[in-house]
Amino acid sequence: MDEEQLLNVWDYERAAEERLDPASFGYFAGGANDEWTLRENLAAFRRWVLRPRMLVDVSEITTAITVLGTELSLPVLVAPTAFQRMAHPEGEVAMARGAAAAGTVMCLSTLATATIEDVAEGTRWFQLYWSPDRGVVRDMIERALAAGHRAIVVTVDLPVLGRRERDFRTGFELPEDVAVPAFVALAEQGSVTPSQINSVVDRSLTWRDLEWLRSLSSLPILVKGLLTAEDAALAVEAGVDGVVVSNHGGRQLDGVAASLDALPEVVEAVGGRAEVLMDGGIRRGTDVVKALALGAKAVLVGRAPLWGLAVGGAEGVQRVLELLRDEFELALALCGCSSPAEVTRAHIGLVQNDA
Ligand SMILES: Cc1cc2nc3c(=O)[nH]c(=O)nc-3n(C[C@H](O)[C@H](O)[C@H](O)COP(=O)(O)O)c2cc1C
Repeated sequence: MDEEQLLNVWDYERAAEERLDPASFGYFAGGANDEWTLRENLAAFRRWVLRPRMLVDVSEITTAITVLGTELSLPVLVAPTAFQRMAHPEGEVAMARGAAAAGTVMCLSTLATATIEDVAEGTRWFQLYWSPDRGVVRDMIERALAAGHRAIVVTVDLPVLGRRERDFRTGFELPEDVAVPAFVALAEQGSVTPSQINSVVDRSLTWRDLEWLRSLSSLPILVKGLLTAEDAALAVEAGVDGVVVSNHGGRQLDGVAASLDALPEVVEAVGGRAEVLMDGGIRRGTDVVKALALGAKAVLVGRAPLWGLAVGGAEGVQRVLELLRDEFELALALCGCSSPAEVTRAHIGLVQNDA
């Protein structure tokens, strides 16, 4: 299909599926176990309706926003996702270029298939999987700092890898020519299997360890993967600058709430003491409005830009992000909001059941 005819993220997903081999597509699209949480992430957005306001002056609209001191052209960041060279030969380098062209941040995964130094364009945040070897952690943070990363995103919902049954069925394996050079401990092992990923993630990590991380640099720290008010309170106590409400795109603990459903309790517990972002299930500009209405400062997208990358490299990424920006801008106008900050809790309501 001609890229001109791809009108929305769903179209990009179908086009990516046509281009990728089934095992790679399954790795990107799939979730854990029954994939119930994966489906919930999408379904949750359908449980809320927008409550637009009329006769508001929307002649001038901005979608721009500042998150942790970083200016973005839209409140949508690129989430960290592993193994991007499986989607496109230029992998993370193209993802960063596309994100920069669209005016937003790219979070670079620890499981990137390019070195930290190779991915040089635009504003980048570094996502950390915490190795049992603190020397490895220190080295990665120092390299991210030297390469100009502007924040550290510690993913806390992966003490062990979730069970991705789809990957077992398809026989998914990382292709031999795709390496994971940033995570030296993993790169040295030669191949990347679930048990090898488990061996390079520290499952003894606790909130106290964040203090050490803070001593390594003055970069803002976000924790990604919270779903409860209890953990949100602990995160604030630990002095983090931001939290990302996330269930890892339904890929870790199956049976947890949709991120959107967990968002309000986290926002309430944080009480403005840190910035709250969320990810999981964002496919439309209206989804972004709903997340903002429930208190998120901005959202991250994982699969959406991966589909853009698979279809058209850097330009595909840019186009998907710009589609989301256009949809978001239109939704703002039709809701009677002239900026992201004007979206309030009053702009959404729960779908009323007939019963
Ligand atoms: C293929 C894939 C790989 C991922 N790899 C990582 C990763 O390396 N680190 C991480 O913190 N999160 C990872 N995630 C989770 C994303 O950062 C994000 O939480 C999730 O994709 C958001 O849901 P969405 O795909 O519905 O937008 C991955 C998600 C996908 C789909």
